[in-house]
Amino acid sequence: MESSPAGCISQGKPLDMKTGQLTARDIVAMKHAGHRIAALTAYDYTSAQMLDAAGVPLILIGDSLGMVVQGEDTTLPVTLDQIIYHSRCVARGTRRALLVADMPFMTYQASPEDALRNAARLLTEGRAGAVKVEGGTDIAPTVRRMVSAGIPVCGHLGFTPQSAHALGAPRIQGREPSDAVSLVADAKALELAGAFAIVLELVPAVVAREVSQRIAIPTIGIGSGPGCDGEIQLFHDLFGLYTDFLPRHTRRYLNVAQEISTAARQYTADVIARRFPGPEQTSDLGPQAQDKFRSLLECPENSQTTQ
Ligand code: KIV
Repeated sequence: MESSPAGCISQGKPLDMKTGQLTARDIVAMKHAGHRIAALTAYDYTSAQMLDAAGVPLILIGDSLGMVVQGEDTTLPVTLDQIIYHSRCVARGTRRALLVADMPFMTYQASPEDALRNAARLLTEGRAGAVKVEGGTDIAPTVRRMVSAGIPVCGHLGFTPQSAHALGAPRIQGREPSDAVSLVADAKALELAGAFAIVLELVPAVVAREVSQRIAIPTIGIGSGPGCDGEIQLFHDLFGLYTDFLPRHTRRYLNVAQEISTAARQYTADVIARRFPGPEQTSDLGPQAQDKFRSLLECPENSQTTQ
């Protein structure tokens, strides 16, 4: 298989020459061209701009924002309105990446009608190009309904954080051979329902590789080894902004939290010692205007005559 982006043809154009917004079809085309998919989460305009400029092809507005932005213990308290708000912010900072917005807990599980209505809001108000839902065979009919309404859907299997109360703390799923076989069946069901990609979270590497080989749509792993068609990580984990804990599946490429706290200490010391703001950060009146200003302060009645 070809591994360079130049070899990746989507809708008649090599992907690296495509200037417009990428679509779910482009992401599928990347798998078929053997081009791995490096995806990241983003929750705001500034980080989205950086990722988009770096060429990240898929940005997820994940409900992980519950933890890394809101400081909650799980993703469950995140609401649809919050994802819409963050998705809009990310959309303003993005020109090329496909934006996938997470459907929060209970915005799609109760009925396909709920799912359609809520997914539509993520596309229209949130300006996302696709949505993501957790679950396999159980959710496949809902995925099918959304896809036939023109909504690209990404699945999510393995550890599904919205089931944290049922599954417990994040840990590898599908260790039992029979569970691993169910996972393969779930992936197949999502593919048949029309999903364009599947996130595989905390799945044993051999199982993730097998799933990736058995379906034509890309798998995007997180803690599932190198056999997936792509990888997704949380912005705050990868760049060292979230320090409550470091999941084993993450590699810190930066330690931004440490740099910010050093800089914040320096800033505080500079303000206290009057080293900041300095002349470069300050604008002032010229000498004549200053004289006039002072004389007016002393004799305010002159202000009528000088106007
Ligand atoms: O919400 C999120 O960030 C996610 C990732 C773990 C894939 O679903």
